[in-house]
Amino acid sequence: MKKIIINNPSRFVFGNGSLKQFVDDFLERGFKRMFLLTIPVLDKTLSPYLAQLTTGGVAIEVYNRITNEPTFAEFEKVLALARNFQADAVVGIGGGSVLDTAKLVAAQIRNTQTTEEITGIGMLKERKTYLACLPTTSGTGSEVSPNAIFLDESDQEKKGVISPYLMPDAAYIDPILSAGVPPAVTAATGMDAFAHCLEAFVNRFAHPVTDRYALDGMQLIFQNLKKAYDDGSDLDARANVSLGSVYGGMCLGPVNTTAVHALAYPLGSKYKVPHGLSNAVILPWVMEFNLPAATEKYARVAKAIGITGCQSEEEYAQAGIRAVRELMKSIGIPAKLRELGIPENALEDMAVSALKVQRLLKNNVREVTLEDALEMYKKAY
Ligand SMILES: [Fe+2]
Repeated sequence: MKKIIINNPSRFVFGNGSLKQFVDDFLERGFKRMFLLTIPVLDKTLSPYLAQLTTGGVAIEVYNRITNEPTFAEFEKVLALARNFQADAVVGIGGGSVLDTAKLVAAQIRNTQTTEEITGIGMLKERKTYLACLPTTSGTGSEVSPNAIFLDESDQEKKGVISPYLMPDAAYIDPILSAGVPPAVTAATGMDAFAHCLEAFVNRFAHPVTDRYALDGMQLIFQNLKKAYDDGSDLDARANVSLGSVYGGMCLGPVNTTAVHALAYPLGSKYKVPHGLSNAVILPWVMEFNLPAATEKYARVAKAIGITGCQSEEEYAQAGIRAVRELMKSIGIPAKLRELGIPENALEDMAVSALKVQRLLKNNVREVTLEDALEMYKKAY
């Protein structure tokens, strides 16, 4: 069996009460200056916990203005604030954009490498500052992944900083933090998590270790996402989708995603479609494209998400793709790119842009040419 290396946070806390555990752990570790990246809607939820930290002698600087799909320029601004504050710990409580920014701030606060020098796979050489991540959306899996993705405004491309040093020291996943996430965001980020699992499972570098996570993740998301969408206060459903998201995140480091994410990036970088929604809309079209190269794997996906009674692997695989489309429809995700405000004459440029994401396309079970990418966009349009 081929080798696989998995990095996980050294402390992983999951379930009800995780937020309280974070506070207790933080105080016990003795940090004094917390730079906290978060979002304004959490003010009320976080306030008693932050008060406890302040009482315990922790100075907290809060930054809560990170936009969706942050740029490197925004990151530099936040980094300057964290340096100025002389933070000895960085904490992210929010969605993927907040966590990705927190991860890079923690890495760069005491690093002499420039942002340009660390962009890419394995370029970041160290992280000296403690980093804890607490996700609100159940999708990106950023709390357990070595990735941070930003928009480079100079060429309008999404770029990744990927390094084991971006793995948080601690991740705390408390369903209470996702209770306030609106249904549309729950739907889109949940499908992003599903895509992480599916793309890691149907992947040229798939591995039995991550296959297990991926299959369980897909099952958990499939069985619980609609419940979490229909009733955001259903904390059991929330926790199950969060676990699916964690499993997806665990696949991102060792195996990572494929053509779904590669083709989704231009939607975000050029048309500001949120990451989760971009991936959700692209997902079934790439599944269809890949099907001839991975029928057996797609059949296993179909069985994992609960499909029974088909006569052949081909039938199972097709039924799986149909079920993904039905789930998406039931949670209000558009089926077509035209519904996202993308002009039809943009598809060629998007295909050129997607082909640049070779770091992910190299994982795809079927080679994707420029013509293939354009064809998929046209079908999806
Ligand atoms: Fe993603």
